[in-house]
Amino acid sequence: KKVVLAYSGGLDTSVILKWLQTEYGCEVVTFTADLGQGEELEPARAKALMLGIKPENIFIDDLREEFVKDFVFPMMRANALYEGLYLLGTSIARPLIAERQIEIAKAVGADAVSHGATGKGNDQVRFELGYYALSPDIRIIAPWREWSLNSREALIAFAEQHQIPVAKDKRGESPFSTDANLLHTSSEGKVLEDPWEEVPDYVYSRTDHPEEAPDAPEYITVDFERGDAVAINGEGLSPAALLAKLNELGKRHGIGRLDLLENRFVGMKSRGMYETPGGTILHIAHRGIEQITLDRGAAHLKDELMPKYAELIYNGFWFAPEREMLQAAIDHSQDKVTGTVRLKLYKGNVGVVGRKSPYSLYSAGIVTFEDDRGAYDQRDAAGFIRLNALRLRLLGRRDGR
Ligand code: ARG
Ligand code: SIN
Repeated sequence: KKVVLAYSGGLDTSVILKWLQTEYGCEVVTFTADLGQGEELEPARAKALMLGIKPENIFIDDLREEFVKDFVFPMMRANALYEGLYLLGTSIARPLIAERQIEIAKAVGADAVSHGATGKGNDQVRFELGYYALSPDIRIIAPWREWSLNSREALIAFAEQHQIPVAKDKRGESPFSTDANLLHTSSEGKVLEDPWEEVPDYVYSRTDHPEEAPDAPEYITVDFERGDAVAINGEGLSPAALLAKLNELGKRHGIGRLDLLENRFVGMKSRGMYETPGGTILHIAHRGIEQITLDRGAAHLKDELMPKYAELIYNGFWFAPEREMLQAAIDHSQDKVTGTVRLKLYKGNVGVVGRKSPYSLYSAGIVTFEDDRGAYDQRDAAGFIRLNALRLRLLGRRDGR
């Protein structure tokens, strides 16, 4: 029996690796993805080797470009926000990891896959819906739902018993649970579990404190082509390089911090803190370019579909037909979402201060408060209002107003 494990190289997945070997007697194949989490991946290889994984069973892939191009960007076209605020940084990475894991399982002839998500969260659902969608008969091993290592101490005891290195600072309680990639870093648990307590400064890891950000605002431009960002300040960049650049700008100005109490798919509420510096800028910039290029009907329909689309991603239904149907509609709407947005970054805020497009629908000639003869006949508005008022007047008469 062979199992492909989503392996980060950290303590939890190292324990899982050993546990799969001892408890299941499986041959373990490890898969470690570079999604721009900002960690070296070679240590994960060294650790896997040390834990007895054969070199040919260690897969380490740089998925950064694919992550941004095929997952983050399509989601940004929708302006997706879960529960009005969350930019879905963890949610959108899971389908890609699941997809690559299944590819590897097929390539090495594995009959099972495994992950390190707990039985209480969203991630287990996202991984496993992805696995089942792409490999209907795959066997799934979710150690957190099976084993008896239910405390930090039990986990560390198991690690020590099996010569798994435990980092000194991890010996006690790790301060919180985090997940990071090019789009965001999330933190949950421990000090954050009291939803009344403000998030302490030390929890933030990739944005500078907005109160300590530069006193001078910074202006940037973002160019879009068919709904996707392609350049910053006129410099063309690949999707991953572009998001990395926005992350740098966002970090410096303390942009993209979010303290959120959200509804998990499994039914419980949880409190988390998110840092999405570049993603927040991109989200606002995309809205800016849509303002000037999208027709009202298309824009408003997109806004109605968005919460549904965001919920599908949050709940792990990336590979479901309804997500694909919505994506097709959203992508279609982006045909002329091309042009340039000018943004101002200042102490935790990002705002659009200018937008232009070769496909602009904005007409100064029509909207102007100045002399408008010929462009728009104000007298037309009287009939427009009277017909719209007709049913309100009928109601008013009936009800004696
Ligand atoms: N609550 C967020 C979500 O469901 C973040 C999950 C973080 N995952 C983690 N393994 N720490 O998308
Ligand atoms: C986990 O439970 O593994 C992390 C949190 C989540 O998936 O929601």
